Amino acid sequence: MITQTAFEGKTILLTGASSDSDIGLGIAQALAQCGARLILVGRRREELEKTRDLLANPAKHSVEPFDLYDMDAIPAWMARLAVAHGKLSGVVHSASVQGYSPVNTIKKQHFEGYFLLNVGAPMALARGLHQRGVAAENASMVLIGSSAGLRGMKGRALYASSKAALVGLTKSLALEFAKRRMRVNCIAPALIRGSKSDQQFAMLSEEQGKALEAIHPMGLGQPHNVADAVVFLLSDMASWVTGVVLPVDGGFVA
Ligand SMILES: NC(=O)c1ccc[n+]([C@@H]2O[C@H](COP(=O)([O-])OP(=O)(O)OC[C@H]3O[C@@H](n4cnc5c(N)ncnc54)[C@H](OP(=O)(O)O)[C@@H]3O)[C@@H](O)[C@H]2O)c1
Repeated sequence: MITQTAFEGKTILLTGASSDSDIGLGIAQALAQCGARLILVGRRREELEKTRDLLANPAKHSVEPFDLYDMDAIPAWMARLAVAHGKLSGVVHSASVQGYSPVNTIKKQHFEGYFLLNVGAPMALARGLHQRGVAAENASMVLIGSSAGLRGMKGRALYASSKAALVGLTKSLALEFAKRRMRVNCIAPALIRGSKSDQQFAMLSEEQGKALEAIHPMGLGQPHNVADAVVFLLSDMASWVTGVVLPVDGGFVA
């Protein structure tokens, strides 16, 4: 059973933790409720502070603004975090670039933007966690992917291919880290209710909106659906689960 003290004494680094990220905030709230001490990461300090203020016991958690595009600086930054806040029992990478990119608009700078944050940053986070003195015993990573990485999506070549690359990254890291009993898993959500889905529906006609909803057999998800899966995969309940891509999508890719 996952209890309210399941993560007591454990430090977990969460990227994409700003209060205006529906999923990031949901993950932070769920982990804090289970007793974790969180390191909240994003670029905007004020948005991270808002998240911290929404958590039970705010003083327990830290705000660490950092630009994850600075991929090569990630391992040394993580080593400093481990000294300041304790060794990491978990890393959750939820930060991401999202959006539409019809293929005739794609240029190198767009490609680099998507792939650096969605693939390069988690690769560097893994490298950072793997260094001496950073990971606590049985540490685990959860990478937030997308159903777009499992099923093609018109107009989303960049986003979808970056999330598909995350699947390959998850499986390869799981194999590379298994010897140290470190686990790496990925969650692939479909459309989650919140500001992102509101923006998406605002761009669509009523008919298109209905069609989008209809391809989710159990309707759209809620941030807590993703957060619950993160809690499970980081917990001891999943101690023999690694290299898995878990769709959290109400049947979207079924
Ligand atoms: N929303 C959905 O329906 C949905 C569906 C499937 C999958 N997902 C996945 O779920 C995750 C969360 O999605 P969301 O919609 O809740 O979040 P979001 O609104 O896209 O938030 C993105 C987060 O990443 C941070 N971020 C962006 N660039 C960064 C950088 N260079 N360095 C550090 N942090 C950076 C942002 O904070 P700053 O701007 O302050 O840096 C923010 O906290 C993403 O991985 C997304 O792909 C979402």
